[in-house]
Amino acid sequence: MSNTSAFPEGFYFGGAVSDWQFEGGFGKGGRGLLSVDFATDGDQTNPRQVTWLDARGNRGKSHWEEPLPEGATLTIFDDEYYPSHRAVDFYHHWREDIALMAEMGFRMFRFSVCWTRIFPTGEESQPNEEGLAFYEQVVDELLAHGIEPMITICHDEMPLELVKKYNGWAGRKTIDCYVCYATALFERLGSKVKYWLTFNEPNALRGVCMLGVTNQSEPVYWQAMHHMFVASAKTVKVGHEMMPDALFSTMFAMSALYPASSKPGDIFAAYQKRREQYLLIDVMSRGAYPNFAQQVFDDCGADVHMEPGDTELLAAHTLDFVSFSYYRSTVVSEGDTFHRLGGTPNPTCPKTPWGWAIDPLGLRYTLNELYDRYQKPVFVVENGMGAVDEFEPDGSCHDTYRMEYLAEHLAAIRDAIAIDGVPCLGYTMWGSTDLVSRSTGEMAKRYGFVAVDMDDKGNGTLKRSAKDSFHWFKKVIASNGSDLTV
Ligand code: BG6
Repeated sequence: MSNTSAFPEGFYFGGAVSDWQFEGGFGKGGRGLLSVDFATDGDQTNPRQVTWLDARGNRGKSHWEEPLPEGATLTIFDDEYYPSHRAVDFYHHWREDIALMAEMGFRMFRFSVCWTRIFPTGEESQPNEEGLAFYEQVVDELLAHGIEPMITICHDEMPLELVKKYNGWAGRKTIDCYVCYATALFERLGSKVKYWLTFNEPNALRGVCMLGVTNQSEPVYWQAMHHMFVASAKTVKVGHEMMPDALFSTMFAMSALYPASSKPGDIFAAYQKRREQYLLIDVMSRGAYPNFAQQVFDDCGADVHMEPGDTELLAAHTLDFVSFSYYRSTVVSEGDTFHRLGGTPNPTCPKTPWGWAIDPLGLRYTLNELYDRYQKPVFVVENGMGAVDEFEPDGSCHDTYRMEYLAEHLAAIRDAIAIDGVPCLGYTMWGSTDLVSRSTGEMAKRYGFVAVDMDDKGNGTLKRSAKDSFHWFKKVIASNGSDLTV
């Protein structure tokens, strides 16, 4: 760990969550059905599934990231557990949760708005007042505690009705619905919120829950991406017009990716894989499809349809900063055929219980990679360690492993800033209050400084309590990051 001085003044230390993993409040306040509301729980060996009825009315379920069977209708069943419905119930605990963030000294809290709380079907002529009022009180409470809000407009979900009518992001009409939704947020919250993320990890989206498409394939994915790019650019345009001081980004999944060996074939394979991730940031941050995009499309048979004016729009309304998530590092060999974000966990690094390779230097590497390429400020809006926490009879949790993981990653950011000269605006730790895991739907995979008493099936009192890392992070923030000792 380096001994460079503290972080820059005003560096945003804080936490991050998403609505469907954290908020709950299913059916409350006029909230409509979300695509992710049909995802069941799972674990490392049993993947999350979506539940449906087939054309003959027979009940079934299938992998939540795979295409839906022809004719299947997403359906909720009383005897299944759907973690998004209550999540950890921020909907009824927001005041208490924010008070705990304030006690740690958070300077920023990143959260996502639930699209169907504002537009229950995605196409109402007016936004839902109860939904707007809910988020306004959350924002007001944060500001009252001196915590800057960062809002993710869409975190891997969408109104069910847009899935049914337009095939989610595969349909061009979804762009207008999204821009209308974002505009309603700017009208209500624009004078109070400066930092906005148009999307979460578009490079990690798959299937009906997250992308809204029922027939996922690579060509459909790239068409959906184009629609998201246009939606984001239109939103940045409207947002800048309405809020001249606002700053926009999209969050990209950018854990480190290395060649498995020094063999030229492995090195080039890793380079190509990384470029597939850059492709999205290139379009949204530089404002144009990169030279290698056509090859990526040709390789999978994609024929992306673009309308007149799209190219100009993308060029004119790019992101203000580049935000990303960083958790682990993976390696790539020539001939690997894994999905976009796959890869072999880095064999040289220790692993979390979920097999994610712990590589703090990879964070410094990624910060440099991104700044070298885009020359825009960068922001680590997700990082953290999903672990199995043990609780003592008095409720305490001695999560030294979490503090060590975070200390090493924060030191890597500090090095990137102080030694490499990368302008990094902040760090919002993922799942700062325990929440439901996205990939597995478990509660057992905990990230938080604050524990929530709840198990994998949603049983528990929902009581909040501070882990040891809570006190550690408070000290880190109070020292502006100069004291990372565990
Ligand atoms: C990011 C997502 O990819 O990783 C979050 O934006 C997610 O929604 C986080 O929770 C950690 O992943 P997981 O599967 O451990 O929850």
